[in-house]
Amino acid sequence: MEKINWGILGCGWIANKFAEALQKTNDSVLKAAAARDGDRAAEFASKWGFEKSYGSYRELVDDPGVDIIYIATPHSYHFAHTKLCLEGGKHVLCEKPFTINARQLKILVAMADEKNLFLMEALWSMFLPGIIKTRELIEKGTIGEVASMDVDFGMNFPYDPKHRLFNPYLAGGALLDIGIYPLFLSLFLFGKPESLKAHSLLNENKIDLTTSLITQSKGGTICNLTSTTRANTPVKARIFGTKGNIEFNNWWFTPVDITLRVDEQEDKVLKFPPIANGYEYEAMEAVRCLKEGLTESEMMPHSFSLMLMEQMDRIRKITGITYPKEIESLDRPYGWDEIE
Ligand SMILES: NC(=O)c1ccc[n+]([C@@H]2O[C@H](COP(=O)([O-])OP(=O)(O)OC[C@H]3O[C@@H](n4cnc5c(N)ncnc54)[C@H](OP(=O)(O)O)[C@@H]3O)[C@@H](O)[C@H]2O)c1
Repeated sequence: MEKINWGILGCGWIANKFAEALQKTNDSVLKAAAARDGDRAAEFASKWGFEKSYGSYRELVDDPGVDIIYIATPHSYHFAHTKLCLEGGKHVLCEKPFTINARQLKILVAMADEKNLFLMEALWSMFLPGIIKTRELIEKGTIGEVASMDVDFGMNFPYDPKHRLFNPYLAGGALLDIGIYPLFLSLFLFGKPESLKAHSLLNENKIDLTTSLITQSKGGTICNLTSTTRANTPVKARIFGTKGNIEFNNWWFTPVDITLRVDEQEDKVLKFPPIANGYEYEAMEAVRCLKEGLTESEMMPHSFSLMLMEQMDRIRKITGITYPKEIESLDRPYGWDEIE
């Protein structure tokens, strides 16, 4: 494959960010965009320079000129939309969280394997140079043994029962939307936790407004991880080791600069300016994999996405976050009727 032909499924907020990044991604052709409404799709396509637009997701999947589809719909639709794309023979990059539960994800992974198609979760922070560098520093022992990490992600979203963050049918709540980031960082840096304590503040629909986690890894690192849709928090990540510490100076999940403090040395600020807006790194990885004929990324393997979903299942069980049974379904993916 010389060039990779991209399709975008769903033309909302994140789709705009991703399209902007795709414009700066080498070997990428902005082939087609699809929305549930043809005019919306046409407007999106013309804004970002896609060659074609479709007023239905199925038409996008049926386009033989599209190689890979980026899925940018709400959480509860990821299972149905990924299945639709894989059934149609398309490679898939799907927004986070991959699915609602690990059982759904296992079905998708098996399907991609069977069809020999590329499948990857678009958890953009995983691909960012600042995050990757942090893991290298920790693995090299630059800050010694890591005793603890504090990570928060809180934004004060005004309550709107229809917004995807609060609508149970769109799998609203802090954990799946923003709490996934602190959890991801702890798993990426320290692996699957040996112990995990969790507490959530739930609303009347049993979705979480705030979730706090304390985890302990095999190596003894304790992580304090908090997410909330009720308040603006510093959105910081700080990692404390026996010889020094690492602090992310801006929104940690998209780090542009990181301060490294090692005992008896001057502070160092490491800079990671993005090429576009940060979403280009996940796109570049998908392009690399497709060009090399890979069906799975070593940077974001299926096993990592599964571990992440399993930990979120585990947390939901502890704290009582509950979604409607329709969106947890394995047999009839939620949203399938809207596609037919
Ligand atoms: N990586 C990141 O930094 C990041 C940031 C924000 C969001 N996200 C993820 O991206 C996904 C979409 O979030 P978003 O903020 O872009 O949401 P959004 O602005 O509401 O867009 C979602 C799109 O999904 C489509 N859709 C299909 N069925 C829908 C339904 N029943 N209700 C609402 N929308 C429906 C709509 O597309 P059409 O009408 O155009 O077909 C809509 O434009 C979520 O999974 C979220 O976790 C990731």
